Amino acid sequence: MTLQVNTHLGSYPITIERGAIRRAGELLNLTGRRVCIVTDTGVPEPYVQAIAAGCENPLIFCFAQGEQNKSFDTLRSLLAQLLHHGFDRTDAIVAVGGGVVTDLAGFAAATYMRGIDFYNVPTTLLCAVDASVGGKTAIDFDGYKNMIGAFWQPRAVLIDPETLDTLPRRRIADGLAEVVKMALTNDAALFETIEQTVLLPGEGEPLPEAIDDIIARALAIKIFVVENDVREKGLRRVLNFGHTLGHAIESCVGLGELYHGECVALGMVPMCSDAVRARLLPVLVRCGLPTATKHLPSKHELLRALKHDKKAAGAHIHAVIVDSVGSFRMENITAEALADALYACPFGKE
Ligand SMILES: NC(=O)c1ccc[n+]([C@@H]2O[C@H](COP(=O)([O-])OP(=O)(O)OC[C@H]3O[C@@H](n4cnc5c(N)ncnc54)[C@H](O)[C@@H]3O)[C@@H](O)[C@H]2O)c1
Repeated sequence: MTLQVNTHLGSYPITIERGAIRRAGELLNLTGRRVCIVTDTGVPEPYVQAIAAGCENPLIFCFAQGEQNKSFDTLRSLLAQLLHHGFDRTDAIVAVGGGVVTDLAGFAAATYMRGIDFYNVPTTLLCAVDASVGGKTAIDFDGYKNMIGAFWQPRAVLIDPETLDTLPRRRIADGLAEVVKMALTNDAALFETIEQTVLLPGEGEPLPEAIDDIIARALAIKIFVVENDVREKGLRRVLNFGHTLGHAIESCVGLGELYHGECVALGMVPMCSDAVRARLLPVLVRCGLPTATKHLPSKHELLRALKHDKKAAGAHIHAVIVDSVGSFRMENITAEALADALYACPFGKE
């Protein structure tokens, strides 16, 4: 199936198809130009080789996996490789991996020779439903996430759901948090589907085929939001639902202790009405996401983190609140009020 994204900064197709990585040469414009495949050490080699088979003599740039490598140092060595191998403006970058790879490769594409083509082949669920679409590219800088970046749209996105089968279960749960977020804020029918479908496989088992349709429906929401607010001036803030508190929790707990989606899950729970929360908590449990307070930092730590978050513009924070499933409203509230909402929240049990 193919979805289309149309923005004034660029239009591109998203192909969602089992086995698509083996058709990359056909589906992406990779012939007659130099191609640099950017990936990391955690991405299974066969996926990279499948994409490489669709290119003529590609350059493969593989960096060490992990958020800590979404850095200036990695960017610098990627740009140096492009220059060393004589890449010019007619050449292209293909990102094969999760959000770390996509963000870094996209930013390299945005900046090399003032911008070259790039393609996204997401291989994590989080990247498939979120990071690979929308054109936000970035690296982390000076301890802050995504501090240096650019809006740069991919030329095409290729999602092969079979590549998600090698993800550890906890990484799948991580991506499901973003799917739940999209459904809860925008699509009551999708939320019902999530309530009725077993999405989290047993460890080592493949994802259910229902995931293909769920990825497409979650992406349809992301596309609508991006098309109507490509530079995040208003509507796109809905994608931050659960993220303001989530980021603050993420920066307070030890690095790597909780995954991003797990923090987003905790961040969504206080931002709902009681009726919505009563439906959200069992969904989070079934998706393998936390619902409990054990991980919450002290109020002092939380406020410090909230005030550091770049989304907390000035004294007020744009909070996204869900009063009924499938809809949202935005409210400007203080960091204090947001922290109070978190501590007053009747979370689930561990
Ligand atoms: N640009 C955006 O709009 C946007 C949106 C959301 C998140 N992000 C960014 O995305 C990043 C997080 O992305 P992520 O959750 O994909 O993490 P990630 O990119 O670190 O991937 C997680 C791990 O899974 C491994 N991996 C990738 N594909 C695999 C596969 N098929 N099988 C087994 N292992 C695999 C990776 O090597 C990595 O170790 C963060 O840096 C975040 O800021 C960006």
